Amino acid sequence: MLFPDYRPRRLRQNDAFRRMMRETKLSVDDFILPLFAIKGKGVENPIDSMPGHYQLSIDNLVKTSKKAYEFGIPAIMLFGIPDKKDPLATGAYDKDGIVQKATRALKDKIPDLAVITDVCLCQYTDHGHCGVVDGHIIDNDASLDLLARTALSHARAGADMVAPSDMMDGRVAEIRNILDENDFSNVPILSYAAKYCSAFYGPFRDAAHSAPKFGDRRTYQMDPANAIEAIREVTMDIEEGADIIMVKPALPYLDIIFRVREEIDLPIAAYNVSGEYAMIKAAEKMGWIDGKKVMMETLIAIKRAGADMILTYFALEAAEALRD
Ligand code: PBG
Repeated sequence: MLFPDYRPRRLRQNDAFRRMMRETKLSVDDFILPLFAIKGKGVENPIDSMPGHYQLSIDNLVKTSKKAYEFGIPAIMLFGIPDKKDPLATGAYDKDGIVQKATRALKDKIPDLAVITDVCLCQYTDHGHCGVVDGHIIDNDASLDLLARTALSHARAGADMVAPSDMMDGRVAEIRNILDENDFSNVPILSYAAKYCSAFYGPFRDAAHSAPKFGDRRTYQMDPANAIEAIREVTMDIEEGADIIMVKPALPYLDIIFRVREEIDLPIAAYNVSGEYAMIKAAEKMGWIDGKKVMMETLIAIKRAGADMILTYFALEAAEALRD
């Protein structure tokens, strides 16, 4: 079709036409809000690099979650900040650990809000790696049992879904087995399947106190240069029993979301991570961009690329914008 027979502007000339032609629509149903739980009462420690986000004691966590629920956000992703760390991450699978307690409180107070728990060891190990270490090596197979026990303890506390983010090989199968053996065959696994070794996690590591004390995460998280490998990672997790697969981060990896969407018929989650949030907040504060517009454009881009759900620190703000 050639000009002047075809005039693309014909269908853009008014809001009614633009709404009719819109291919992708954002909804509050698309959002999962990540939240950080810490012990104490009345605690609301601001996270400097993530304006509007806090380390929350359980009472305040419930308050914020209620707000999310009232906006219609279907789920939160829960991270714990424990008060003690050790080499075997015992706080991660302690039945009275911070995530387990917070989950029980949330399911008690807001039963219809889905609680997804992040399953990892890095906040709980004294060295800050996502698995147990042997010298300076991250020991894959020795970590699997601890990850499985962590997931089971979350399910026992009432978690509606568990989300392993550690990137150890074989952990999805191990978690599926232990859940099935303990009558939790109905608890889905949202696997951080294509999780890249990204500098965009910086603000999160400040918030969760989970930066590694030596080395980095390159031996387990994916190389940012790789796309074909993401398909192998995702396929492997599906074969091991993942119900939903995640691509993380989102914005610098829209091509990965798109490729996974083309090849895979399971629901796809994308994690709009802490650094993506921080960049927009910082530029907005400088007066360099319209933060609200950039937020909505970012979220629609992630959905357009193929994500069915978006983990985002913008969830509350975006839900409010959609409502208005
Ligand atoms: C724990 C974990 C991380 C994030 C989610 N789960 C940090 C990491 O892998 O270092 C990052 C989330 C974000 O940046 O928003 N393994």
